[in-house]
Amino acid sequence: MLDFNWFYTWSEKTLHLNLIAYKEGQLQRRIETIMKKSGATDLKQFAKMIETDENIKKNFLDYITINVTEFYRNKEIFEEFEEVFINRLSSKFKALKVWSAACSTGAEAYSIAMILKKNKLTASSKIIATDIDETILSKAKAGTYSKLEVQNVPPLEKRLYFTEQNNRYALSDDIKKTVHFKKHDLILDSYEKGYHAIICRNVTIYFKNEVKEKIYRNIADSLVPGGLFFIGATESVYKPEQYGLKKVAAFLYEKV
Ligand SMILES: C[S@@+](CC[C@H](N)C(=O)[O-])C[C@H]1O[C@@H](n2cnc3c(N)ncnc32)[C@H](O)[C@@H]1O
Repeated sequence: MLDFNWFYTWSEKTLHLNLIAYKEGQLQRRIETIMKKSGATDLKQFAKMIETDENIKKNFLDYITINVTEFYRNKEIFEEFEEVFINRLSSKFKALKVWSAACSTGAEAYSIAMILKKNKLTASSKIIATDIDETILSKAKAGTYSKLEVQNVPPLEKRLYFTEQNNRYALSDDIKKTVHFKKHDLILDSYEKGYHAIICRNVTIYFKNEVKEKIYRNIADSLVPGGLFFIGATESVYKPEQYGLKKVAAFLYEKV
């Protein structure tokens, strides 16, 4: 029997990673799989390996925090986001502050950056992108992607902002410089206020309900009235009014 409770306490103390927040069954299966792949037979041995081997530590963090992403993920929803964002926000506010939370390699934040550029809003906007994982944030700043990750980028944007070399797609400095990356833990850190749009997709699905609800509350409190909250294609906010939110499209909520 694996002593997951011991492992959770160790993880919080040593890695500052709060595993208690994750859905239990799913998480334990993932820990067991990555533990076996690393060659450990119990969690104490696995923890020691994580502490002493940077590669094992990196693989563990990547596997547990799940970094999968792509540009314009769920393309139709992104198009809807663009329409509502431009119609509701750009005429109402002079300057726009946008947050891509749990941004992974930055594909989501850079997609927003391209939308703002297309609509001539770059100069009057600020995009902040955050993630718990510092390795992924370095990749985000480097801005080089696979063919699959850029497959949904509209043809014009692909031509304008990417250079292809050996099947990798390097993003132009023009777009890169418009996004500010920093480390932020949605569970443990405090939230900045005054955002006009918060995009937080495909991360709270891994968390227990009470953790998800706290994140939704914090996000709603961080939005200005009229601000937008954009969620993932498999997500929905239960009783949005409890957070002062109103549904305005399938995956979009407005702060009342
Ligand atoms: C599946 S990716 C989602 C990326 C992007 N939002 C998207 O939808 O394409 C989940 C991201 O959440 C990050 N993450 C996991 N736990 C987090 C936490 N507590 N705080 C902030 N980010 C977290 C992971 O590092 C990972 O990059």
